[in-house]
Amino acid sequence: MNNNPIYKNPNSPIESRIKDLLSRMTLSEKIGQITQIDRRVATRSAIRDLSVGSILSAGGGGPYEKATSSDWIDMIDRFQNAALESRLGIPLLYGTDAVHGNNNVYGATVFPHNIGLGATSLCDRDAELVRRIGVATALEVRACGAQFTFAPCVAVCKDLRWGRCYESYSEDTEIVRNMTSLVKGLQGQPPQGHPKGYPFVAGRENVVACAKHFVGDGGTDKGINEGNTIASYDELERIHMAPYLDCISQGVCTVMASYSSWNGRKLHSDHFLITQVLKEKLGFKGFVISDSQALDRLSYPFGSNYRKCVLLAINAGIDMVMVPFRYELFLEDLTYLVESGKIPIARIDDAVERILRVKFVAGLFEYPLADRSLLDRVGCKPHRDLAREAVRKSLVLLKNGKDPKKPFLPLNRNAERILVAGTHADNLGYQCGGWTATWMGASGRITIGTTILEAIMEAVGETTDLIYEQHPSQDTFANQDFSFAIVIVGEGPYAETMGDNSELVIPFNGAELISSVADKVPTLVILISGRPLVLEPWLLEKVDALVAAWLPGSEGDGITDVIFGDYEFQGKLPVTWFKRVEEAGKNSSEPLFRLGFGLTSNREGHLN
Ligand code: BGC
Ligand code: BGC
Repeated sequence: MNNNPIYKNPNSPIESRIKDLLSRMTLSEKIGQITQIDRRVATRSAIRDLSVGSILSAGGGGPYEKATSSDWIDMIDRFQNAALESRLGIPLLYGTDAVHGNNNVYGATVFPHNIGLGATSLCDRDAELVRRIGVATALEVRACGAQFTFAPCVAVCKDLRWGRCYESYSEDTEIVRNMTSLVKGLQGQPPQGHPKGYPFVAGRENVVACAKHFVGDGGTDKGINEGNTIASYDELERIHMAPYLDCISQGVCTVMASYSSWNGRKLHSDHFLITQVLKEKLGFKGFVISDSQALDRLSYPFGSNYRKCVLLAINAGIDMVMVPFRYELFLEDLTYLVESGKIPIARIDDAVERILRVKFVAGLFEYPLADRSLLDRVGCKPHRDLAREAVRKSLVLLKNGKDPKKPFLPLNRNAERILVAGTHADNLGYQCGGWTATWMGASGRITIGTTILEAIMEAVGETTDLIYEQHPSQDTFANQDFSFAIVIVGEGPYAETMGDNSELVIPFNGAELISSVADKVPTLVILISGRPLVLEPWLLEKVDALVAAWLPGSEGDGITDVIFGDYEFQGKLPVTWFKRVEEAGKNSSEPLFRLGFGLTSNREGHLN
């Protein structure tokens, strides 16, 4: 009878396969499935003998720097083959933070970070653009051998001082809800009548998605990362939980719990929100994954009293634990807790069933290994074109001309002499931001793409004299008659808590740089940032035009497409632009620019 077990039969219904497989598993195999480890500690024996359920590449996380897609496949397939050698041969789910394209991989297409996509949301077919980005991202993730991404982040950022502001599409719940179409892109579109809450993955060109971070991550007091969200249940539901309903109705396979707390209670130990609300009330049938080392953070000092933390999290309803390093301790503690009856076996079975359900749905049992025919999709032309389109649509024009009757943009590409200046003009790493190549992102040529300067060089006419000085000096201006200047400044890259910032001034003395150029030459300022920054009235008055370009990613030519007038500005602010930074977390009645603000360039005006 065991020659052809039900769980191996692709024609058996998934729920029967789950039941069959679960009935064959030992406690240690079940606990192994619950465990997600970092690839840096993933030995062959841990995978094969402990039956770990999942491995991840955290920020960066390639086999080595600048590893290609085929290197990634070699690494992941090696892990997968070890898993297939385990007693029951349960395949691994390999996870990665593909949060704006498959950004950990050198040469992948890097799309604008979410805040930029949120800026597209008030123009046509916004959600459709994001869905297409999901399709492309899924392909590039699959082309590197992984089948699971920790995206989308559906945080509703209520305080711009939060270091993860750029991972949020908007401060407006409705915009975030629209952008959950990423799930449909990543996983594919479930057919009519697909049971609500049941996970869905269309095929081998799709991936398992993860809505994160459940719930209220963007609502913390003062925008402190991993902080405390103070809200009534009604507010939490209306503002922060609503996007999860959209994800669930699109068949999202997984949900990640948030490091943050709700009214002082850490989400990872919140049985009410994870089990009673997410699983029972909303009917979510996929699995809930913890955030990285989040169990360690359930006690103070972090990492102490680990057994108690495991108990709290598993009993609260966490199904898979992103341990991701100290897995021996985790396995030991969880085994003890089950054997001593502190965690009921039914809770373990529920977690494992959910994990197996996602693995069956994703087709891993049939196709555990990577599909090398997809290799050339990484960073391919159609994906770069799509990213360029997204950049175009994400740009928000905040000022156009000192006299509104005389628009400054679009710029004349055949101007005699143009000055390009600023820290962000020729820095691919800066324009991509955090979660690119590495967790924090970095400066310079960290991946393949087009800087804004390169795009400008490409866009201007042959007779145009283009001068680039990152920091122009007096000499730059002596005897040079510039038609205009383009100054590109903004934030350096950061991620998570490193990005928490209560000053929000333009770094690298950006305001001074803008001012010194604008004093001498008519100036367009392009701001590269994960959020609004301080723009004082005297500075704003000085500049001729101002564009918020967010963190556009690898395709800088999306910017030149618009500033030179081949395309119109369409973007609208997805967040409120404060006048004073103290207002960053409040509903200010008189902001500098309101939510939804964005000018359109007027070509006729320019010709006049
Ligand atoms: C972040 C998650 C991310 C995980 C894995 C955590 O620090 O909060 O968003 O998916 O790391 O890299
Ligand atoms: C963070 C992850 C990150 C990783 C980078 C962890 O401490 O929580 O988000 O991806 O470090 O290695």
